[in-house]
Order: sequence, then structure tokens, then C-alpha cells
Amino acid sequence: MSKVVVISGHPNLDDSYTNSVILEQVDKQLSDVAIRRLDQLYPHYQINVEEEQQALLAADVVVLQFPFYWYSVPALLKKWIDDVFTFNFAYGTHGDKLKGKEFILSFTIGGPAESYDPLGYNHFSIEQLIQPLQQTAYLAGMNFHKPVYSHRMVYIPNVYNELEEVQARAMEHATRLTEQVRNITHSPQAKITAFVKQWFEQFDQLKPETEVYTRYLAEDVVWESPEGRFVGRDGFRAWYDKARATFKPNCQHDVHQIDIKPDGDNYRVELRVMLTAETYLDSDLKGERITLPVNEVWQVSLDAQGIPTIHRYQVELA
Ligand SMILES: Cc1cc2nc3c(=O)[nH]c(=O)nc-3n(C[C@H](O)[C@H](O)[C@H](O)COP(=O)(O)O)c2cc1C
Repeated sequence: MSKVVVISGHPNLDDSYTNSVILEQVDKQLSDVAIRRLDQLYPHYQINVEEEQQALLAADVVVLQFPFYWYSVPALLKKWIDDVFTFNFAYGTHGDKLKGKEFILSFTIGGPAESYDPLGYNHFSIEQLIQPLQQTAYLAGMNFHKPVYSHRMVYIPNVYNELEEVQARAMEHATRLTEQVRNITHSPQAKITAFVKQWFEQFDQLKPETEVYTRYLAEDVVWESPEGRFVGRDGFRAWYDKARATFKPNCQHDVHQIDIKPDGDNYRVELRVMLTAETYLDSDLKGERITLPVNEVWQVSLDAQGIPTIHRYQVELA
């Protein structure tokens, strides 16, 4: 099961009527979830950057849970982002530590839905207002998912809403959020993404055993690459021998983009990969160190247990 970290950005959860309910429900409904209450951890806004970064590294799914304040996140959560998303952690040459993690914004909004409209008093849609957070996720290489939010969540006795109403909406919000997390972590796309990652980790070692690959290959797999067209598992072994004679172990496949779409009973997986490798002197690449952008298209099926099989594997130099 994937690890989920929920960053609670409410500045004072003891005074909350809705975020507190959502967090309590999420804690009950999800297994393997860590909730970080920034209001308790950092009452003086002095964020422990190292600890926060470790918590993010340990997670597959990152949820920011907060009340919408002045069309954005509360100051405590903004400070958390400013302090934790550092150079060479979240961005920059070596800033790939959050890359590939799933990112969900989950927030409560005081105003009604109709106010977030060109003709309403808030003028802009929620999707427009959260674009800076969306771009933050993109820059960090995280997978930005459809945000989970609820309107009419402000409770001021005898002024705005009834307590039972906002708390019922908070319960419903929590259910939507946990469903969103489950969809992301249990979907076929999630399984294939994990498989792609595992495949390249294995491949980059270039060990002689081929069983680790062939068990995921259809008997009639078709392998098309700049080296030629190879059919079946024996075809794969012939191609792999060539690869091992060309590339030295510990090469690196960095997946920059992954797009998975249902295609009949299978999935079409489109990948943009950057291959970095040292090559052997007596190979076609003559000992050159290469950094090569590569486009790949895989046809993959999943069986009832979610085990993948590759039917077609096409590699093209980009
Ligand atoms: C400082 C502050 C700023 C707020 N800004 C907005 C806002 O920009 N738009 C909005 O719809 N509601 C706004 N609200 C209402 C909050 O979003 C609402 O009270 C909150 O989501 C309720 O969560 P809680 O019960 O967990 O405190 C604001 C509230 C406060 C205290």
C-alpha cells in the first residue's frame, strides 16, 4: 500500500469546524497515512526543513489539506512550501526528489460555488485561483490530480451556516478525498507506473539473467528498436545481448513523461526517457558516453492480480 502524507496547513485546528473533521476521517479511513499538523509542530512558524523533506521522501502521495484563505493557502502552509521546496530538492539540476509523487490539494472554502464565477462576487473560478499551486507541482515534477474542495464551509454561529451542515459537508469531503487517494494508488495506471519504474531499475543494472524481464513478456512479444525488430522471448534475449555488449552496467533511464491510456483490453504506455550510459570501446558506440532522449511506446495488459505483460515494445530516438 502506498504511503500517504497529509500536510495540515490550518493555523489553529482546535478552532476548526471542518478541517478537523476531514483529518479525523482521513486518519480513520486510510491505512498508512501520516498527518502532519503544522499548527502543532510549528506554532512559531519555524519549520524543520529536514524533517519535512524526510516526510515527503517517505511518501508516495502528498495531500495538502487547508482552509482557503484570501484565495490561497494560509500563511503557515505558504511558509512550509517556501521553506521545504528548496533548490536541488524540489527544483534545480538535482531537484528531482519529489518527482513522480502524487499531489492532491484538498481544501475547504467559505464562499458558495456560484460566487466563483465571472458574474459572482469572487469573479474567478477555483481552478484559476489555484494555478500557482498547480504550477508548483509541475515544476517539482509531481503528478497534479483533480483537487478536492468543498464550498460553504464557514461556520459563524447565527451568521453563516449551521454547524451540522458544515460538518456533514466535511464528512462528505473526507469520503471524496479518500476515494481520490484510493483511485490514484490502486488504479491500473498506478500499477503500470510502478512497473515501468521497476523495469528500468532492473534494466539499468544490465545483469546477465533475463528471467526478471521475460516473465513480463508475452510469448509473441514484438520488440522494435533502432537495433532492429525482435520477436518472442528469444528475440528479446538476442536484443538484450546486444544491449549488454554496448552499454556498461549502471546506466540510467530517467522517465520524464509517462502517459497511460486504455487501448482495447490493453494499455498504451507512452514514455519520454532520457538514457545516460557509458558504452564499450568495441561496441558501435565506441566507448562514447551518451545522453540520449528516447521515446518509447509499450502495449501492456494487466491480469486479474494486476501483473503486467508487455506485448509490444517500440523504441525510437527522439
Ligand atoms: C483569514 C481568512 C481568510 C479567508 N479567505 C477566504 C477566501 O478567500 N475565500 C473563501 O471562500 N473563504 C475564505 N475564508 C473562509 C474559510 O475558507 C473557512 O472559514 C474555512 O474553510 C473553514 O475551515 P475550518 O472550519 O476548518 O476553520 C477565510 C477565512 C479566514 C479566517
